[in-house]
Amino acid sequence: MAVTLKGRDFVSLRDFSPEEIEQFLQTATAMKLRQKAGMMDRPLEGKTLGMIFTKPSTRTRISFEVGIWQLGGVGLFLSGEELQLRRGETIEDTAKNLSRYLDGIMIRTFDQKDVDDLAANSTIPVINGLTDLLHPCQAASDLLTIREKKGQFSDLKLAFVGDGDNNMVHSLLFAGSKVGMDVSVGAPSGYEPQESIVEMAAEEAAVTGSRLQVTNDPVEAVRGADIVYADVWASMGVEDERQERLRVLQSYQVNAQLWEHVHSEAIFMHCLPAHRGEEVTDEILDSPASVVFDQAKNRLHMQKAIMALTM
Ligand code: CP
Ligand code: NVA
Repeated sequence: MAVTLKGRDFVSLRDFSPEEIEQFLQTATAMKLRQKAGMMDRPLEGKTLGMIFTKPSTRTRISFEVGIWQLGGVGLFLSGEELQLRRGETIEDTAKNLSRYLDGIMIRTFDQKDVDDLAANSTIPVINGLTDLLHPCQAASDLLTIREKKGQFSDLKLAFVGDGDNNMVHSLLFAGSKVGMDVSVGAPSGYEPQESIVEMAAEEAAVTGSRLQVTNDPVEAVRGADIVYADVWASMGVEDERQERLRVLQSYQVNAQLWEHVHSEAIFMHCLPAHRGEEVTDEILDSPASVVFDQAKNRLHMQKAIMALTM
């Protein structure tokens, strides 16, 4: 039987059981099908989601804003630049104030601790719209895309190549280990995923049977992969390291040569925005194997499920 997720924060996929993740997936699928059939669910009539952004966004902002509107509620865009947070009001006090006006908060910012502190001090659900450490909304909607394209999670290998110390990698490690999908990360020395995250994901993987691998060899990472995933080499906040990263990461580009080693029916995924010609070539990004725009579309459906179930 489905447990209630009302009032739960959505700060990391690690906080949810495989059954709860399944509930998000089934709700998103059902909402997507109903929308396609011209039926709109409005479970959040009269509710307000505050959306704090201290980093730029295209997909996350628009899909949350359109999503809450489709669910019957209203989204308030709150620029980090214009909130009193910027002038030193604490996260704790901000949380207590926002809890008195809103029904949910979505936040995109740098430090994961700020999201954790916001959640700990709010009486309303807090949704992590990306931090330097995690991007759980993207990974959850990626699970939806993978299920749509591949029909299952078991017996699948997802290979991420590029910057391994990255919010997408960390959330994909949690996502894969929760649903029993193998995850292989190919990253240069010094750019591996954070050890504590790999260890936590490995605990989950021991239960679900998913196999996790971190290697410095991009070919080994993608060998036989059903899904190849890339992300920018310089994430928001580390753009000043761009030149160095372009040099260190160049042999981790997803291109036709690397593609020779993947499964014959492999798909290419990317959270976007992409830096074409850096982490991935146009040839791969625009190929029939690429599902990146379907991925972007599913952000809307998964976010609606997250809001409808938690708020
Ligand atoms: N994938 C993603 O989060 O995109 P935005 O940065 O445009 O929100
Ligand atoms: N790793 C990227 C993801 C963007 C959606 C970043 O943080 O910039």
